[in-house]
Amino acid sequence: MAATYELHGEVAVITLANPPVNGLGFATRAAVADGLDRAAADAAVKGVVITGGGRAFCGGADIKEFGTDRAIAEPNLHTLIRMIGDAAKPVVAAINGVCMGGGLELALGCHGRVAAPGVDIALPEVKLGLLPGAGGTQRLPRVLGVETALNMIVTGEPVKSERLAALPGQKLFDAIAAEGLLDAACARALALAAEQSAGKPLPRVRDLKCSHPNADAYFGFARNTVKAMAKNFPAPGRCVDAVQAAVRLPFDAGLAAERDLFVQLMLSPESKALRHAFFGERAASKIPDVPEDTPRREIAKVAVIGAGTMGGGISMNFLNAGIPVTVLETKPEALERGVATIRKNYEAQVKKGKLKAEKYGERMALLSTTLEYRDIADADLVIEAVFEEMGVKETVFRTLDEVMKPGAILASNTSTLNVDAIAAFTKRPQDVLGMHFFSPANVMKLLEVVRGAATAKDVLATVMAVAKKIRKTAVVSGVCDGFIGNRMIEQYSRQAGFLLEEGCTPAQVDKAVEKFGFAMGPFRMGDLAGNDIGWAIRKRRYVEKPHMRYSRTADLLCEKGRYGQKTGAGWYDYQAGRRDAIPSAEVVAMIDAYRAELGIAPRKIPDDEIVHRLVYSLVNEAAKILEEGIASKASDIDMVYLTGYGFPLHRGGPMCYADTQGLYNVVQTMKKFAANPLDDATFWQPAPLLARLAAAGKSFT
Ligand code: 3HC
Ligand code: NAI
Repeated sequence: MAATYELHGEVAVITLANPPVNGLGFATRAAVADGLDRAAADAAVKGVVITGGGRAFCGGADIKEFGTDRAIAEPNLHTLIRMIGDAAKPVVAAINGVCMGGGLELALGCHGRVAAPGVDIALPEVKLGLLPGAGGTQRLPRVLGVETALNMIVTGEPVKSERLAALPGQKLFDAIAAEGLLDAACARALALAAEQSAGKPLPRVRDLKCSHPNADAYFGFARNTVKAMAKNFPAPGRCVDAVQAAVRLPFDAGLAAERDLFVQLMLSPESKALRHAFFGERAASKIPDVPEDTPRREIAKVAVIGAGTMGGGISMNFLNAGIPVTVLETKPEALERGVATIRKNYEAQVKKGKLKAEKYGERMALLSTTLEYRDIADADLVIEAVFEEMGVKETVFRTLDEVMKPGAILASNTSTLNVDAIAAFTKRPQDVLGMHFFSPANVMKLLEVVRGAATAKDVLATVMAVAKKIRKTAVVSGVCDGFIGNRMIEQYSRQAGFLLEEGCTPAQVDKAVEKFGFAMGPFRMGDLAGNDIGWAIRKRRYVEKPHMRYSRTADLLCEKGRYGQKTGAGWYDYQAGRRDAIPSAEVVAMIDAYRAELGIAPRKIPDDEIVHRLVYSLVNEAAKILEEGIASKASDIDMVYLTGYGFPLHRGGPMCYADTQGLYNVVQTMKKFAANPLDDATFWQPAPLLARLAAAGKSFT
């Protein structure tokens, strides 16, 4: 039963029972409607209370039903809310836990609302590229005022119930009940019934006035503000339109306007992308052969080996989560440098008002340093972030194997080395895995969790749980060269090199890709990360794979010492102390000369071709990664690119984007690229999985 019905004296209590968040799917809506009918038919019932079972009141419409017949099957959410408002007996919402989206809209349709304190109240639809489509944009301004309501609707951010209840003139809550919420709500229902018997009509939010003293100017201002903020997303602007309709139009006409805008947004690719990312993020933590109830090891103490660029950032993640960290180095100077960088980072946050001084103190108190392995022997999790050299890793892992307590998890932050080979340095490969953080490790959301051939399931489950604690989006990758993200970026970089050879400048490529929505084009990204890293990798890799053609332009750049921002020159020029990328005449001349050497007459390549050659390079490699089982689902690959590589969120990730284009069309375009004699026909050979899906009219996701 998706909602239960019980009598509490003269009040019928309908309890939403659709765990974990009581989403208003078809079955739940139908069960609530049944409860309302039952209460209406029972002469002994004077009023109704709707509340949530478990920890939530209601997380909103069931997003999983979107796009299916069940989403609109009657009673749909509109019908249900209308039934509540039109009920002959008072209906009161007892808001016991998180109350969001359609859940808040349902509560706003009730005649009264009583909430527990500390409850998150929100209309977060905008985060899914939508607007509240069941009256939220029409009713919330009527109870909180236009400005407060619009603010909540365009940001989607939750506000605590007691804060809203304290707003002057608010009509959202009749009361906040710290204890005995259900009793308070039942009492409110009976009080409303008594008033009704005395001739007072039941209060309905729709009957309240909705106005703003300076509406036109205010909405003009709001529209400009959200335009700057919304960039590639239409939803915030439509939220303003819908709330303006609440002021301009009678209630029912406003509701109809809201409905039209909602339907438009629901069909938009931006909303599809955001919904894909919402579920993709949650799906990433589910590993097909690791059951959710796999026991986890306790992680109370962490050790980090190496206090360099990555070790410092990695440590901060755990300190931020209140977990003590010991950092181990080879020399005291290295420890001092590492700790000074951590301090500097925290102090910058304190200065910007992002971190309270006492929190900074608390975090630093959790940090200790050592030069001796015996001081970390009882850590539950060790993360190695020393130089990227197998010999150094070998020494570290052999020592860890000797000193660490049994059951400790041994992780490597390696970005290119074989995790199975690292595990083989120990006698406990089941406890070894990769935790590939991205730089800056205290900021970047992505964590690739690299599962070795022998990694135990409980080790994997533990690390996924730890990742959640330190607020990372963790995605499991199998062992392969570059794991998921860097293996794909290698093909993207190769293709970017071919574009230069054929006639592009770095600035032209970057501009096209940034217009598509990437945070940064490939050449600006190279300058930021350091072009020498790729150079070193290519020196190794293309000796091993001489058949793999790549453009030498990036090598020529490095041979000139142009490593990027850190050397003041890369694909672009940089002024001292500034990060602005200034197109470089020297680099353009270098590329021109190389092109002439190859005998290539430059061609003007349209932006559209640039973007598709780069994005489909990612997609084709991703299809191989998926088929090989390196990633267990397409959405995992999208999460890697959305959270670690600046792929535009409104496109949903490379796989979601390819699906939106249609895989048949992707393959057709790749065939066109393959026919270009200056490109590489083998590069554009569609991955078998991609070819099969395209031929079958199927998609990745
Ligand atoms: N519909 C369907 N499933 C939902 C859901 C929803 N509205 N909200 C959460 N879930 C699912 C999640 O997918 C997850 O499923 P899983 O266990 O299978 O992975 C599970 O519930 C638990 O979710 P979280 O891991 O996110 O749990 P938290 O406790 O961390 O957070 C929450 C709870 C704050 C409610 C968070 O889930 C959330 O923000 N949900 C989305 C809320 C939302 O956007 N509501 C608006 C929906 S659109 C709408 O109502 C349209 C209407 O205006 C017409
Ligand atoms: P780094 O050079 O900044 O820091 C390495 C630190 O390890 C130095 O402080 C060094 O003194 C210390 N160290 C070396 N040998 C040691 C040993 N035997 N015992 C203890 N400490 C030792 O290097 P960085 O950039 O932090 O990289 C570390 C690891 O993280 C590498 O495996 C790298 O591939 C990986 N990585 C780096 C990323 C980056 O963007 N820098 C991103 C993701 C992973």
